[in-house]
Amino acid sequence: MYDINSFKIKENPVILGLESSCDETAAAVIRGRKLLSDKIISSATEQAKFGGVVPEIASRAHTEAVDEVVRQAVSAAGITLKDIDAVAVTYGAGLLGALLVGLSFAKALAYTLNVPLIAVNHIRGHMAAAYLVEESLKPPFITLLASGGHTAILHTQSYTRFEVLGGTCDDAAGEAFDKVARVLGLEYPGGVNVERLAKNGKNCVPLPKCLVKNSQTMQFSYSGLKTAVINFCHNAEQKGERVVKEDIACSFQHAAVDPLVAKTVECAQKRGVKTVTAGGGVIANGYLREALAKECKKAGIKLVLPEKGFCTDNAAMIAAEGLIQYLSGNFSPLDINAKAQIPLK
Ligand SMILES: Nc1ncnc2c1ncn2[C@@H]1O[C@H](COP(=O)(O)OP(=O)(O)OP(=O)(O)O)[C@@H](O)[C@H]1O
Ligand SMILES: [Mg+2]
Repeated sequence: MYDINSFKIKENPVILGLESSCDETAAAVIRGRKLLSDKIISSATEQAKFGGVVPEIASRAHTEAVDEVVRQAVSAAGITLKDIDAVAVTYGAGLLGALLVGLSFAKALAYTLNVPLIAVNHIRGHMAAAYLVEESLKPPFITLLASGGHTAILHTQSYTRFEVLGGTCDDAAGEAFDKVARVLGLEYPGGVNVERLAKNGKNCVPLPKCLVKNSQTMQFSYSGLKTAVINFCHNAEQKGERVVKEDIACSFQHAAVDPLVAKTVECAQKRGVKTVTAGGGVIANGYLREALAKECKKAGIKLVLPEKGFCTDNAAMIAAEGLIQYLSGNFSPLDINAKAQIPLK
């Protein structure tokens, strides 16, 4: 009989994390905050042919990969299934069919092993990636979250409580990188290709910063910045002028990243918080990482930055958030459903 009230909480549990919200089927194992293994099978190359993620292709790929990726993660961790103390899995937000593959697998495994199932919010996973970087990291800290679907600055006050200090009023930062990539004729996934192109460019194209002026709350707008790039390209085309794509990429990167970095440090200073962390795919951007490190150093703030591979979607971050939930006894019933959307707060 599976009873979620019967589980005892261990100090350093072995947690299997599973992630299948988009085009990555990922599994990872942690013991306490120590990462034992991290495996990903991605359908990105297949998706690239369509210029973006096709949900049905993602679901089919997850179905084929989920068993294999879990086997790989368990084997690389040097454990057997019987050593697993809890199964953490993304239940939202994401593509519903894709989520259901990981969630169904996790439910079956948790039931069979008679261990807690922990349903994790994907975004809380991105925020928790920093816990694996430094075992001693504890709240309070300020988090810069910038991914394909989210852009926010958050004040994590305790392991389970956080406040949203600012965010985007339209597109997310990653979404803007992807759309600008398309305008520049770059392949999916766009963000990393914009970064590559920007390396050979100059910050010389006049573009608006992504910060909403005169707003009571701190708000970013990436839609306006994206439109400015499109307009710049169209105007040049109409005048028969050649555009230097490298310069557009570089200028866009500055306009998209600089305000995020500046405002994150400003939030930490205003709140008197001495630590900054970051998560989400855009945090893999080399220019952003350098700028954030530089500004944090200048302000005497400690920066805890997950490695690039732990910024984009991965299962280690799901296991990390699973650990936080596990330690507070927050287990999920087996009838929990996947959710395409979950509000940040
Ligand atoms: N080096 C990079 N520079 C800029 N952007 C990047 C880089 N690498 C990845 N990205 C962007 O990060 C996003 C992917 O991040 P992530 O996988 O966290 O998003 P998601 O899971 O689709 O969205 P969310 O996490 O909000 O649900 C994409 O928009 C991609 O363009
Ligand atoms: Mg993500």
